[in-house]
Amino acid sequence: MKKKIIVTGGAGYIGSHTVVELFNAGFEPVIVDNFSNADKSVVARINEITGSNIELHEGDCCDEVFLKGVIEAEGAVDGFIHFAAYKAVGESVKKPLDYYRNNFDSLLTVLKAMMEYSIPHFVFSSSCTVYGQAAVLPVTEETPVQKQESPYGNTKKVCEEMINDAVNSGAKLKCISLRYFNPIGAHASAKIGELPLGVPQNLVPFITQAAAGIRRQLTVFGNDYDTPDGTCIRDYIHVVDLAKAHVKSLEYLGSRKADNFYDVFNVGTGKGNSVLEVIKAFEKASGQKLIYRIGPRRTGDIVQIYGNVNKANKLLDWKTEMTLEDSLRDAWEWQKGLGRS
Ligand code: WQD
Repeated sequence: MKKKIIVTGGAGYIGSHTVVELFNAGFEPVIVDNFSNADKSVVARINEITGSNIELHEGDCCDEVFLKGVIEAEGAVDGFIHFAAYKAVGESVKKPLDYYRNNFDSLLTVLKAMMEYSIPHFVFSSSCTVYGQAAVLPVTEETPVQKQESPYGNTKKVCEEMINDAVNSGAKLKCISLRYFNPIGAHASAKIGELPLGVPQNLVPFITQAAAGIRRQLTVFGNDYDTPDGTCIRDYIHVVDLAKAHVKSLEYLGSRKADNFYDVFNVGTGKGNSVLEVIKAFEKASGQKLIYRIGPRRTGDIVQIYGNVNKANKLLDWKTEMTLEDSLRDAWEWQKGLGRS
C-alpha cells in the first residue's frame, strides 16, 4: 500500500518538482492548490512526466472545512508536505497582514487537521532567510535565527516556532523543517520549472528571461560588497535536489520509532556563488552571452549566505547531485520551452 502524502502548494515551483519525486520514490502524492500563485497546466505536465493521474483538490488550505473534506475523501493519509504560502519578500513588506494571515492560518489549519485525523508525518518549507546575515559562514542549524528583515522571513521563523511548540505539547506529530537556500533550475524534461508572475524578482529567472530577450537587460544589484568580486554570494541549489530532500525527510520520519519528533535541516549545496559567477556559469551552460549593467544595491539584500549541509547529508542520507551549471542549463532549457509553448 503506497503511503499517501498531501502536498499543499503542489502545483507551485518546488511543490510540483516534489510531487514528481514523491511519485518516483513510490509514494502516492495528492496535490492541494488554490492556484493563487501557480498555473493549472502544471498538473497536466506533472501527469505527463509521471505517466500518472495525480489526485488534485483545488482549494485553500486555510479553509478548515475544505481541508478536512480532502482528508475524508483521501482516506488513510500518511503525511503532509506544506508548501502553500506567500513567498515574495518585497510584497510581504507592502502587505504584511496578508502574509501573516495566509502563512499562519494555512499552517495552523494543516497541523490541527493532522492532529484530528492522527496523520503523523509533516515536512515544512522553511528558508535560510531565518539566519539573516550570519556572523559565521557556512551557517549550520545551530546558527542563531535572527530578527527578520521582512514579514515573509518572519512568517517562516514564527511558523518553525509554531511547529516546535505543537510537538513540545506532546502531540503525536513527527515534523521536519527544511531551510532552503536558493532554489533554481527545472526538471530535465523542461515540462515544469519556475513560472514567476510579472517581472522576476529572483536572479536566475531574470537571467533566463533576459537571455530570451523578454527582459531588456540584467541589473547586478551592487558590486561594492565585501566579497571577492564585490557581488552578493548565495547557495544556489537545483530544485530537483531540493525536491528529493523532501522525499528523504519523509522516509527519515517514517523510520523514527517515537511518535513525537521535530528537527530542522539546511538544504543547500554547501557552496556559495556570487552573482557574477552565476552569470559566467549561465553563459557557459547556455552558450548565451548576457548583457548586464552594475546598478545600485537592492535594499534588504544580505551580503552572503551559504549552508553547512552535513546534518542532512548524514541523517537524511541526502546530498546534492547537480552542479550550478546543471541548474542553469536546465533553467535555460525550461525558458526556451516556454518560448515555444
Ligand atoms: C540573489 C542575488 C540579488 C535579481 C530570495 C528570498 C528567499 C528565497 C529565495 C523564498 C542577490 C541578486 C537578483 C536581479 C541581482 N525566496 N540579483 N539582479 O534575495 O537571495 O532570496 O529568493 O523562499 O527567501 O529572499 O534571491 O534571486 O532575489 O537574489 O543582482 O535582477 O542576486 O541582489 O544578491 P535572494 P534572489
